[in-house]
Amino acid sequence: MKFQAPKGVSEYMPPKSQTFAWVRNQFARVIGSNGYELVELPVFEDTELFSRIGASTDVVSKEMYTFEDRGGRSITLRPEGTVGALRAVIEHGLDRGSLPVKVYYSGAYFRAERPQAGRYRQFYSVGAEAIGSEDPALDAEMIAMADSAFRSLGLSNFTLQMTSLGDSASRAAHRVDLVKFIAKLDLDEATRERAALNPLRLFDDKREEIRSAMSDAPRLLDYLSKESEEHFAQVQELLTALGIKFEINPRMVRGLDYYTGTTFEFVHHQLGAQSGVGGGGRYDGLMKEIGGQDISGIGFGLGVDRAILALEAEGKVPAPTTSDLFLIPLGPESKTRVLQLAAELRASGLIVEVAYGDKSLKSAMKQADKSAARYSAVVGESELSAGSVEVKEMTSGASTSVTLSALPSFFTSK
Ligand code: HAM
Repeated sequence: MKFQAPKGVSEYMPPKSQTFAWVRNQFARVIGSNGYELVELPVFEDTELFSRIGASTDVVSKEMYTFEDRGGRSITLRPEGTVGALRAVIEHGLDRGSLPVKVYYSGAYFRAERPQAGRYRQFYSVGAEAIGSEDPALDAEMIAMADSAFRSLGLSNFTLQMTSLGDSASRAAHRVDLVKFIAKLDLDEATRERAALNPLRLFDDKREEIRSAMSDAPRLLDYLSKESEEHFAQVQELLTALGIKFEINPRMVRGLDYYTGTTFEFVHHQLGAQSGVGGGGRYDGLMKEIGGQDISGIGFGLGVDRAILALEAEGKVPAPTTSDLFLIPLGPESKTRVLQLAAELRASGLIVEVAYGDKSLKSAMKQADKSAARYSAVVGESELSAGSVEVKEMTSGASTSVTLSALPSFFTSK
């Protein structure tokens, strides 16, 4: 029996796995530089927690990996990170300390979607949340942070789209008119049910007939209360002052229901249908909804898989790191010395590989070539008694005689 990975999961083999690790680290570094602290969270939670993401969403209604554990509890593999992060913040009382609470996390998320390029059933993202302040400067920080996270990878062919979903008064006023508008449309039963749960969802419908029917629908942005409008205007002013370009997209609907106020998405121009490389927004009622204080928060999720696809599309994938040195022991005596040497050189920060399996010189050299190491050196009895080795540069073939004790400094000088 030959096994295969489950359908639609993303996995990364060398050398692409290096790009994966690098993307995730760059995201974490940028977020960390804004004072956000890492939280490590479980990949599964009580199913009930995820239902708070919103019943009208595909994520909750169709795509959750839900099962009963051995104790008969209903468990779900996390489809997203926000509610789990908030659950942990509340459970550990972080929201009782100084506000805003600023946390970030990264890992695998699970959605039983129809797999296609850039859309996986297990995917990776890095998320950040700032909880407990309504300051528009925090919205600007969050958006600027996502923008610089993408730019830190060298990406540039993307647009930041934003809108505001307003406060509850804004949404209530809009909903009245939107529901009236939708009632006049000729819709199938499933669509009508979806609209009954959340009429905004129809803006997100991919079908051409619905898209065109919705083109004249009332826009939430035109119903913002004075406070919401002022808040959103300040976010825009701050982003402009930070030199961050954005487009207002009043028709943007995120795939999760908890958003209020500032909502944003980073759209990459070379990724086809799955173009959202990251997105997020405010969530006024969510903390309270899952048993916390009635405080607002804002956050984002940055897609690691899609960022990698975007790097490939822009031709910005960094060259993979290769080993610095491939050491080839010849004879049993030299093996011990080679292992000691390798340990010393690794301690000085070099990437060192050793040929194993008592190979012939010829097959060991072949292996050195394959490893793509920058240098190789053969260490036999004669090298040991002379106390020096010939270090060969693999691309040019040029070799330099280096005493064993000078090996670390030879490499640091390179
Ligand atoms: P999201 O937009 O659903 O937001 O996911 C964040 C990012 O994960 C997306 O922009 C996309 O790049 C990536 N992503 C989503 N689904 C898939 C998939 N099936 N395959 C590959 N990549 C995918 C959230 O999850 C929110 N928790 C973000 C947030 C945090 N909002 C507030 N705080």
